[in-house]
Amino acid sequence: MQLAVLKETKDYEKRVALTPDIVKQLLKKGFKVQVEAGAGQNSSISDQEYENAGATIAKDAAAAAKADVVLKVNAFTEEEVVKMNEGAVAISFMYAYTIPSVLEAMNKKKISSFSMDAVPRISRAQKMDALSSQANLAGYKTVLLGANALGKIFPLMMTAAGTITPSKVLIFGAGVAGLQAIATAKRLGAIVEVTDVRPETKEQVESLGGRFLTVEGAEGVTVEGGYAKEVSADFLQKQKELIQEKIKDADLVITTALVIGKKAPVLITEEMVKSMKTGSVIVDMAVESGGNCEVSEIHQTVVKHGVTVIGEANLPSLLPVNASQLYATNISTLLYHLATPEGFKWEMDEEITKGSLITHGGETVHEFTLGILAKS
Ligand code: NAI
Repeated sequence: MQLAVLKETKDYEKRVALTPDIVKQLLKKGFKVQVEAGAGQNSSISDQEYENAGATIAKDAAAAAKADVVLKVNAFTEEEVVKMNEGAVAISFMYAYTIPSVLEAMNKKKISSFSMDAVPRISRAQKMDALSSQANLAGYKTVLLGANALGKIFPLMMTAAGTITPSKVLIFGAGVAGLQAIATAKRLGAIVEVTDVRPETKEQVESLGGRFLTVEGAEGVTVEGGYAKEVSADFLQKQKELIQEKIKDADLVITTALVIGKKAPVLITEEMVKSMKTGSVIVDMAVESGGNCEVSEIHQTVVKHGVTVIGEANLPSLLPVNASQLYATNISTLLYHLATPEGFKWEMDEEITKGSLITHGGETVHEFTLGILAKS
């Protein structure tokens, strides 16, 4: 089976779908690998390194796309689909970015597509979970971005010239990104407070040295597949009252609140931004899903009411070396699960196949995607 890696074309993207060590592993298992020239450049991987690992280099996307399986980080574009072979398989992130015209183009060519961000969050799929691997890195980077934008240090420092008190970091959401942000901010010496709608996160937050802000006397949230599904209005109101007080004191606020399949909840209103200290910083990680902060702007750093608001939408891409390394493990593990070098298994009722297969045999087959398409 011939695999191909396309160079990413999306703005701000520096990652690549396979790294040379994973190429070696794939070849050892019996797959063949082709990489588009320059695909690894922004992740500090040269064509020569891919060749040394045993891959062949394709001169451009048109040449690379003629493979049995085409791999990418970001969703395929229509132009890329047109270049692919009829009946080929495409694997990338695509579920959150459902673009009807791309799905149509795939179906026209009977291309089967698997979406990395639709792999179910279950124990046996952990090694394929690219959302988690990338969110983990993003949680780390978000703290560094925030720390850099602050005119203060994080730790308590006693000097001959006086004592510097530690910075206060307030984190919304203790999922994958939030937990890594807590750990990173703690390592740098900040005081960390955290709010989440899932009460079970309290223990995890505390085990990392964070302080969990409990919303008293409110019914919380329904959880499905490890994700927050629905949060009651009562809870959100009580959470808002609690946060209104805490936010005035915070130096850095990081928001990671996500409710799967929905626009991100607005947790920081413009009024709340106004109440913050001059010089404080907000990093809105949910900016791509609409934002947890009312004034954040995608891909922009803006100063509003004296507060710096960072809306970086592709944090993993700011760490392309590690992000590509982890993504390559995720995507190759999914491939080993779905196929052998002789072909795909097409076990249509198997949970991971069913969860991540978006188009197949000329049709869109993914239930959740069909739901989104029906609404659009
Ligand atoms: P996750 O699902 O593991 O965590 C989200 C957390 O938010 C959950 O613990 C959930 O209970 C909590 N939450 C939901 N509603 C809340 C509310 N009202 N108040 C407080 N907490 C609430 O998600 P993950 O993987 O940690 O990602 C978090 C966010 O970061 C997502 O929006 C994701 O799209 C984004 N992200 C952004 C990146 C970037 O480059 N900007 C990179 C990776 C992730």
